[in-house]
Amino acid sequence: MIMQANRLTNPELEKLGLFINQRYGLEFRQQRLELLQEAVQKRIEECEASTVGEYLNLLQQHEEEVLLLINLLTVHETYFFREPMHLDVLIRQVIPRLVRNGGQYPLIRLLSAGCSTGEEAYSMAIAALKMPGAGINWDFEVIGVDVDKEAIKKAQAGLYGFYSFRSCPKDIRDNYFERVSKESFVIKSFVKEKVRFESLNLFEPVYPEWICNTDIVFYRNVSIYFSKEQREEVFRRLAGLLNHGGCLFLSCTETLYHSNNLMSLVKNGETFYYRKQDNDSMDSRKADAGALTAIDIQYIAPDTSRKKFTPQVKTRPAITESKGLHCSPPSSKQHLLMDNKGDSCQQILTDALELVKLKRYDEAIGRLDEIIAVDSFFDQAYTLKANILLNQQSVEAAIELCQAALVIDAFCLEAYLLLGMAAKLTGQREEAIQRFKEAVYVFPECWLAHFFLAEVYQLQEESAYAKREYEVAMRILRQGNFEKHGLSFFLVPFQLDDFIQVCQHNIAKLKE
Ligand SMILES: C[S@@+](CC[C@H](N)C(=O)[O-])C[C@H]1O[C@@H](n2cnc3c(N)ncnc32)[C@H](O)[C@@H]1O
Repeated sequence: MIMQANRLTNPELEKLGLFINQRYGLEFRQQRLELLQEAVQKRIEECEASTVGEYLNLLQQHEEEVLLLINLLTVHETYFFREPMHLDVLIRQVIPRLVRNGGQYPLIRLLSAGCSTGEEAYSMAIAALKMPGAGINWDFEVIGVDVDKEAIKKAQAGLYGFYSFRSCPKDIRDNYFERVSKESFVIKSFVKEKVRFESLNLFEPVYPEWICNTDIVFYRNVSIYFSKEQREEVFRRLAGLLNHGGCLFLSCTETLYHSNNLMSLVKNGETFYYRKQDNDSMDSRKADAGALTAIDIQYIAPDTSRKKFTPQVKTRPAITESKGLHCSPPSSKQHLLMDNKGDSCQQILTDALELVKLKRYDEAIGRLDEIIAVDSFFDQAYTLKANILLNQQSVEAAIELCQAALVIDAFCLEAYLLLGMAAKLTGQREEAIQRFKEAVYVFPECWLAHFFLAEVYQLQEESAYAKREYEVAMRILRQGNFEKHGLSFFLVPFQLDDFIQVCQHNIAKLKE
């Protein structure tokens, strides 16, 4: 029973509310003052203070008591793979871009700000671990912080009941957790070692060094209890932690309440996130323009300086005019799947190839986007889309897609070939040569790569090299290997005989 002596008077309550608000951001108005009253009464009973005054003294002298009270005032509701579209954008868009721009062995740093009992931070780690090259070509670490020390202890223990998995695919629970009793599961050590938890008040006047230089911040379902000014303050400070090009995710409902001059709001389908502007370099604008076309991202505000990158497209050589489609059946490459959607993706790819044959390119792109939306590791969807876009002269978008495909599969022949074609189209011959050579390295019998290489050498007036490459292309073609170019599909302009004739013609010309 609640004793009247344990009730704070209204002025006392308001004073305490203000103190907590200033130190921890939590806002207390009307009904929430009632919540504060109940929490105080509970704490008074638990610590056996005889009067309100005694308890308030205790609060002033012991930070630990403040934290215990905060624990009762904060909402810790969380679960694995909450708002999974954020994780999807993370692994499909954000991390691949950061990895690509991150130099030799990039280390991507992720922060779960207001991580509660750890489900969000572990979900981020699991999603990242599923990405190609994680721990091999690039690495990552996740830090989870929360003001509530009890929540942090639970996060560190990594022990969860069924309720935490209520929205989580079962295969994730099976693969990343060990069942330790009928009701509980513990996170496996290879995930746990990627995540670190620390208690931290986001209103701390100075943030510790170990959360600075972060690339990705998840700050979801935390700001809802803060006042407008405090929301803005934390948002600004978290933006300050981000490296250039870094991204910040809020929950869907929170996004609308934030605005800031440091960040661009990025829309990806139905998902929004904030991106800290890169250094104002052409490189970053290129990447943005690519992302825009690649998966229908719109920059909304406030980045008024951002110009859409306009590729310099020179007149297109006849060889790139698409007159027909030659395709082998889709390869049986293994894809890392978020779930078991491989078969339907293969079917959609086949449909998309049919649409391309019928020159219904927009519909084909629509189908390919469907694949990318459910399986971000399906590299053929990226490269086929890149191929279509390249034929439509959307060079930068095509390049972006090829680069995404190469993050997924470093030996993606189509990607190298398309990058070579894109470089050739924009007059970057050295780059084109490099890319076609890489294609040959991946698949030496790829006559198309030899053919394109020969063309660029010819443009460079390197006749001996050009002749040699035409001869190699012709030799492979004469063996009847027209279909065996090593590609799962390719839009090529001629039939076999045409190619052989072009090779013969050019060799004769080069001899003159
Ligand atoms: C509803 S949970 C959100 C958990 C997780 N981010 C999610 O979306 O599932 C909100 C968390 O924010 C934490 N929090 C509230 N105020 C905070 C502050 N000032 N500093 C750090 N964490 C805070 C709470 O302790 C709580 O664990």
